[in-house]
Formats: sequence, structure tokens, C-alpha cells
Amino acid sequence: MLVLGIESSCDETAAAIVRDGREMVSSVISSQVDVHKRFGGVVPELASREHLDKIVPVVDEAFERAGLKKRDIDGIAVTAGPGLVGSLLVGVSFAKAMAFALGKPLVGVNHIEGHIFSVVFENPPVEYPALALVVSGGHTNLFHVPAPGKYKVVARTRDDAAGEAFDKVAKMLGLGYPGGPIIERLAREGNPRSVRFSIPRMGDGRPDFSFSGLKTAVSKYVRESSLKPVGANEEPSQAIKDLAASFQSVVVRSLTGTTARLAEELHPKTLIVAGGVACNGALREESRTVAARLSVPVYFPSPHLSTDNAAMIAAAGTVKLEAGERAGFDLNADVNLRLQNVEVEDEALRQQGVHYRL
Ligand code: KG4
Ligand code: ZN
Repeated sequence: MLVLGIESSCDETAAAIVRDGREMVSSVISSQVDVHKRFGGVVPELASREHLDKIVPVVDEAFERAGLKKRDIDGIAVTAGPGLVGSLLVGVSFAKAMAFALGKPLVGVNHIEGHIFSVVFENPPVEYPALALVVSGGHTNLFHVPAPGKYKVVARTRDDAAGEAFDKVAKMLGLGYPGGPIIERLAREGNPRSVRFSIPRMGDGRPDFSFSGLKTAVSKYVRESSLKPVGANEEPSQAIKDLAASFQSVVVRSLTGTTARLAEELHPKTLIVAGGVACNGALREESRTVAARLSVPVYFPSPHLSTDNAAMIAAAGTVKLEAGERAGFDLNADVNLRLQNVEVEDEALRQQGVHYRL
């Protein structure tokens, strides 16, 4: 089955063709980073305008690179949410028009479910139940995945996403955008134990994440130690590198500590770490340590599949299309589309030995 995936939820316009849900035939990503860089974050109006400009050439290039004609595909999968409404609408409208013109089936895909599927191309098949950490600029969620297509959020951020924290701290330190890769580079030359940041614990004892307090702690540290943000073309000081390393270390410990705690409780057969922040080498290393301790395989997407792409959307969409799911032409962008469809009291799951004690 050949599926065209289309992704435009944030600041990447992407199209990909995937065969049988696991083989990437082509993948084209047009990034808007240069457009948003000078604003230090994504500007929604500019993002939708860019998507409008890029969607046609990006889809055409995906077919060209695959050596396929539009009529060769068996279906279309498009990101329907969550994301920026103007951005999502470009992909959704385009996909609907194309499905109508070609007479091909269409499915809407949740962007976060797409990230979870980003591991299917380069790893052995996922065994279920799985525990999937999705960490990006917009989301930080830990999902229990008892079976393909079934998700329960077992931990989530109460405020900022992990990638957002990287981006905001980088902006505060004058380091540029996106912050994650820059902080990771500087952290390699810094001492992660130089500044002691603590991992926030939730008052209600739930295993949720919180990163906005950490951002405030970094800002307080900068003020109290009179650190100067790095100027343009200036080499970052050792103090900035130490701060970057300490910040990264606490984010990684928070993410992997909670993943380990929930893995001990839920006994997954596979750990998945996906989303833009999964590019982070320190997060990968610590996740591997946790997985080895628990004797569970851990799967990551390679960097070009970690950040937003359409191959992951096509892979997630293939499962839906194969199951007979179809979207109508009333498919709409849903900014707050949720990915949680397993009831805590699901009897079938309980019989499989899956209990949620959260
Ligand atoms: O998945 P993604 O491309 O877009 C969203 O769906 O949000 O993730 C982008 C996020 C940005 O916040 C970026 O700073 C972060 O991923 N990121 C990283 C690294 N590379 C990208 N964070 C930490 N370390 C990295 N190496
Ligand atoms: Zn994403």
C-alpha cells in the first residue's frame, strides 16, 4: 500500500510517500526556520503563508523523488491536529482537494501519534504494550500504548513543553533559535553539576512534568550571577556552557526519571522516545541506560525523522487506512486534537493485566 503523508501543523511543510507503513519511498521537508529565526519563535501568520507557498512544490517533489505518478498512491494521510490552525488548514484543505480529485481515500492523523510512528522505519517492529515519550517544541507527553492505535497519557507537562523550555532558555541567553541543538552543543563543553536545579514534584503526587519553574530558575540564576546574554558573533563563556549543561541535565533527568518510574509500573515491551527533543544526545544516552537497566529495547527515530516530517504521518495513516478508516470531506483542522482513547476502566485491558494506578 502506497500512502502519501502531508504535514503542515507548525513550521515545516512536508510530504512523503511510504510503502506498506514501514518503507520510506520519499520524504521532503521544507523548513521555515529561517523565516521565524529573527523573531525567536514561530509567528503563526507567517507560518501559514509559507505553507501556502510551499505545499504544491513539496508534494510534487515527493512524487518526483519517488518516481511515481499521483494516481499510483492508494491513499492520503494528513495531519489534522494539534497545531496552529492556519498552518493545519493548508495541509488539510490541500489533502481533501487532492483526495477528491484523484478519488483516493483520506484519513486525518494526530500529529503526536505521527511522532510515535516515526520509529517504524529504522527499528524492529514495536512490541506492545509500549511506553512512548513524545518530546517536542509543542508537546511533552508520556503515553502508554497497550496496542497499536490505543493511547493513554500517563504523564504530561503541566506548563511548557521540554523543547519550548530549551527554546526559551536559549533565547534568554542570547543563543538563537531553535534552542535545543545550540544548548546541546554548548552543554558538551560544560559541567552539568555546576548549577544545581531541582526536578519539580507535583503537589498531588502525579508523575507529571513541569518546565516553566525551571525556566524561572535559570532566569533567576542569570540575574543573581550577573551573567550577560551572548551577543551576536560572540563566543559563549564557560559560565554559559556550564549553565547550558546543568539545564539540559535536569531536563533529561526529569524526562527519563519519570519514564523509568512508569516503565517499572507498566512493564512495557518497548520504549519509544520521539519528537524534536529526541535528537538530543544526552536524552538518548540516559534513555538507553534506563532501558538497559529495565531490559527493554528503546527505539528512537534518526534526527531527520525526530523533527516534524510527513513520513511519520503516512506511517500512522497507513494503519488507519488498512483498518478501513476514512475521513469525509468535512475533515477539519482541530487545534486541540487529543490523543487519549483508552479508558482507565477498560475491562479488556484489565484482563490483559494492564492496570493504571495513577
Ligand atoms: O518535533 P519538532 O520538530 O516540532 C514540534 O512538533 O514542536 O520539535 C522541535 C523542538 C524545538 O523546541 C527544538 O528546540 C527541539 O525540538 N530540539 C531539541 C534538539 N533538536 C531539536 N531539543 C534538545 N536537543 C536537541 N538536539
Ligand atoms: Zn512535532
